[in-house]
Amino acid sequence: MNFGMLILALLAACVHGIEFSGSYSVVVTRPPIEIKEVAHIPPWGIGYYIPPKSTRMESGLPPEEEEEELKAKNEDGEYYVDAREQDLVVEDVRVGFDRGEEVGVGVQPGMLCVEDERPMGEDGINYCRRLTDEDKKRMERMSKNVVVLTVGSGESDAQTRLLRSAQVFQYTIQVLGDNQGPVADDLKLKLVQEAVAGVAKDHPDRLVLYLDGPDAILAAGPLRVVEEVTRDHEGPGGPVRVLLSADGVCWPDKSLAAKFPKLKVGRRFIDSGAFVGPAEHLHRIFTESAQGEKSLQELFTKLYLKDAVRKKYNIAIDHTNTLFQNLHGATGELELKFAGKEGYLQNTVYTTVPLVIRGNRNSKVMLNSYANYLARAWNPVDGCRECWENMLPIESLEASQFPVVTLAIFIPKPTPFLEEFFVKITAQKYPKERIHLYIHNMEEFHAPMVTEWVDSTGRLYKSLKYITHDAGAKEWHTKNKAIVHTLETGSDFLLVVDSMAHLDNPFAIKLLVEQNRKVVAPMLARPYKPWSNFWGALTSDGFYARSADYVEIVQNEKRGLWNVPFVGNAYMISSKLLADKQRVPSFINKLLEPDMAMCANLREKGVFIHVTNRLDMGHLVSADNFVTKHFRPEMWQLFENRWDWEARYLHENYSSSLVENATIAMPCPDVYWFPLFKERYAQDMIDVNENFGGWSDGSHYDKRLEGGYETVPTVDIHMNQIEYRYEWLEILRAYVQPLQLRVFEGYNNDVGPPQALMAFTVRYKPDEQPLLRPHHDTSTYTINVALNRPGIDFQGGGCRFVRYNCSVLDTRVGWVLMHPGRLTHLHEGLRVTEGTRYIVVTFVDP
Ligand SMILES: *[C@@H]1O[C@H](CO)[C@@H](O)[C@H](O)[C@H]1NC(C)=O
Ligand SMILES: *[C@@H]1O[C@H](CO)[C@@H](O)[C@H](O)[C@H]1NC(C)=O
Ligand SMILES: *[C@@H]1O[C@H](CO)[C@@H](O)[C@H](O)[C@H]1NC(C)=O
Repeated sequence: MNFGMLILALLAACVHGIEFSGSYSVVVTRPPIEIKEVAHIPPWGIGYYIPPKSTRMESGLPPEEEEEELKAKNEDGEYYVDAREQDLVVEDVRVGFDRGEEVGVGVQPGMLCVEDERPMGEDGINYCRRLTDEDKKRMERMSKNVVVLTVGSGESDAQTRLLRSAQVFQYTIQVLGDNQGPVADDLKLKLVQEAVAGVAKDHPDRLVLYLDGPDAILAAGPLRVVEEVTRDHEGPGGPVRVLLSADGVCWPDKSLAAKFPKLKVGRRFIDSGAFVGPAEHLHRIFTESAQGEKSLQELFTKLYLKDAVRKKYNIAIDHTNTLFQNLHGATGELELKFAGKEGYLQNTVYTTVPLVIRGNRNSKVMLNSYANYLARAWNPVDGCRECWENMLPIESLEASQFPVVTLAIFIPKPTPFLEEFFVKITAQKYPKERIHLYIHNMEEFHAPMVTEWVDSTGRLYKSLKYITHDAGAKEWHTKNKAIVHTLETGSDFLLVVDSMAHLDNPFAIKLLVEQNRKVVAPMLARPYKPWSNFWGALTSDGFYARSADYVEIVQNEKRGLWNVPFVGNAYMISSKLLADKQRVPSFINKLLEPDMAMCANLREKGVFIHVTNRLDMGHLVSADNFVTKHFRPEMWQLFENRWDWEARYLHENYSSSLVENATIAMPCPDVYWFPLFKERYAQDMIDVNENFGGWSDGSHYDKRLEGGYETVPTVDIHMNQIEYRYEWLEILRAYVQPLQLRVFEGYNNDVGPPQALMAFTVRYKPDEQPLLRPHHDTSTYTINVALNRPGIDFQGGGCRFVRYNCSVLDTRVGWVLMHPGRLTHLHEGLRVTEGTRYIVVTFVDP
C-alpha cells in the first residue's frame, strides 16, 4: 500500500466513523481556480467612489497640503529640462523686438528637445531647459510684444474661454467695440483699423494678433507668435510680414479661386478671421491700401492677389497651419498630445503645432472638445486644472447658508430600482431645508411608491411641489415649469434628475453646487456599458457621435470637467443662466425629447454644457426592458441592470466563497453551503410565488412534466410557470456554477452553461405537504435555497442525508445547499410541524 492509498483508506474509515450533525462545519480549502465572473466588483473599477476621508475631500477640494503641492508643481519652469542654450537662441531678429537672448520658441524642425524627442515645457512647448528668473522677466517683456485684438460680440462662454487662454499665456488682449452683440463686417474692419493705428502709434514694434470671434483659443505663449512671424516661411521677401490664416475654400467670391497661386501642399485660400503682423506694418497696409472695402476678407484677398502688393507688404498665408488652425474640415489632421503637462494640438499632415485654434463654421463642438485640454485646462499629471477655477466653496458655510437648490425629479416611464433611487436622493448630504422639491411622476405604476416617499420624506425639505401622473402633464412643459419654479422660489440652482439617474455619491449635489457652472451634469454611465448621459461629439445633423476621448471619460481613465454638446438625465443649471432672458434654456425644440431640445437650444445660444467625472457621481439604470406585469419586477432585471440587481439581491458575502483558499462550510459530507442571495431576494421569491398561487397539488400526476408522472411529488411552482426560467438559468451560470467549481473539482461544463429542467419553489406546510420521503434527485448536483427562517417562520423542517445520518436543520435564508444528485445523497425533507417553509430546488445537469 503506498502512501496515497493509505490516506484514502483512512479517509474512508473516518467518514464511516464520524457522525455529522446539523450544525457541524468542516473547513475545506481548495486550490485556487479561475473565477470567470465575480459579483460585486464596482463597475467602474479603480476610483469607484470611496467615502472621503476629510471634510475637505468631501467637498471635492484637495486637502490643504495637496493644494500647496499643486501650486508648486505648476510653477513655470518645473518641467523644463536643461539643454544647450545656444541651440535655442533665435538668431534672426529683424523686427527689432526687445527679445534679448530668448530661449526656445516653438516647435520647429531640428529644435526638438533632446530628451525624448518631444517638445517639453508649459509655454511655447519647446523649452528645453529650466527657466531662470531672468528668463521669466524676458518672457514677461515678450508677452508685451504681442497684442491680441478681438472684436467683442457680447459676453459669452466662448469669449470668457478665449480671455482665459490669453491670461494663461500672459497675452495682452483687447476686446474691440462695445461688446454688445454681433458686429457687422464693415464695422469690424473699422474697429480693427482703429485699434491697429492705436497700437502702431505708441508701440510700432508690437505684433498684432487678430482673432475674429470668440470661438478661438490660444494654445501657446507669445514667444511662439514672435518666432513664427519673424521666421522665413516661404520664398523671398524677408521675415517682416503679415501671416493670414488659411482656408481650404475660397470665399466670399469663389470665382477668384483660380487667381490664388497653386500649391503642392497646404490650403491655398484666405481666412481673414485670424492673422498676425507688426502693428506699424499693418497700419501702413490699412492706410495705404484700404479703399472702402467692406470687410477684412475683401481687403486681404484684394491685396494678396496683386503680386506687387503682396510682395511689397510681404503678406503670406499660413498654408500649413504653423500658427493658425481652423478646425472646419481638419478633423482627420489633428491629434491632441501632451509634452509634460502642456497639451498641444499636432497637425499630423503638416507636422506643425498650431497656436491659434479656431472653431470656424460648424466646428465649435470640436473646438470645445480640444479646449478641454488646451491652455492648461487639463493635463495627465494634475488632471483637471480648470475645474478649480470659479468654484463656489461652501465648505466653511453653515448649513443654513448653503445655496438653495430646486431639486426637480422626473419619472417619465416605468423605471426599475426606483426604490433605491429615492434612498439615494434621501441620503444626499445637502441640507434638506435648503432644497425645494419639484416632482413630476408620469407613471401610474410608480404612484404608490412616489406618494409614500413624498409623504414620509418630502416634508423634510424646504418646500414641495408634486405633480401626479393623473395631471397628464407633458415632460417638456413640466421641465420648463421647473425653471419658473426655481426662479420663483429664489433658488440658486436647479438640479434636474430623471428616475434613471442614480446619484450614488451622497455628496453629488454638493459637488455640483461647488463646481458652479452654468450647466453641469454628473457623469453617469450604465455599468459595464459604454452608455452614458453625455455625448462627446455631434453628427452634422445634431445627433450622437463619439469623440476620441469618450470611452476614456466614461471609464474614468480621464477625470475632469468636460465641455460637451449634450447631457441628459441629470444636470444642474445655475440661476444666473435661468435669469438670463437671452439664454434661458427651454426644453422645447421641434419634436426633440426634452433634454435633447434643451441642449440644442443651449448650443445655439453658445452656452457651454459640462459634464463632470472629477469624482464618481453615480450610474444610470436602464429602463429599456422593464416588464411591470411581473410581481416584484426587479427580480427580472438581471440581464438589463445586473449591477443594480446584484446590489439588491446578491448576498453581500457571495464572492467571499470565490476568493483563493476560501473557507467553505460543509455541514454534511459533500454537502456545501454558500451565501447566495440577500434576504430580500428570498422574500421577493416567496411573494412572487404566492402571488402567482398556482401551486401543484402534490400528487403523482403532473401535467407540467413530459411523462405526466412525478415519482416524488411536492407542492411546488416551476420557474417557467412564473416566467423566470431564463433568469434562473442565468443565475445558475453566473453565480452558482462558480461555486460548484470550487467544491466539485473536475466537473465543469465544457459543453456549456448549467442546464436544469427541474427548477421550482417548494412549499411545506403541516396541513398540506409537511415532508418529503427519502429520494434521489435526477441531477448531477442539486441546489436547495432556503427562503425563510426555521424556528421563526416555521417549526421543524430541514434536510436529512440518509447515508450519513446527517441533517441540516438551521438552514439560513438566501444560502444554498449544494450536494451531488443520484447515487450517494439519498435525502429527505423533514417534517414541518408549524408554519410554512419555502425552498427553491434545482436539479442541475440532469
Ligand atoms: C459577511 O461576512 C462578514 C464577515 O464574516 C460578517 O461580519 C457579516 O455579518 C456577513 N454578512 C452577512 C449579511 O451575513
Ligand atoms: C492558499 O494556500 C496555499 C497553500 O497553503 C498558499 O501557498 C497560498 O499562499 C494561499 N493563498 C492565499 C491568498 O492565502
Ligand atoms: C442518527 O442521528 C441521530 C441524531 O444524531 C441519532 O439520534 C440516531 O440514533 C442516528 N441514527 C443512526 C441510525 O445512526
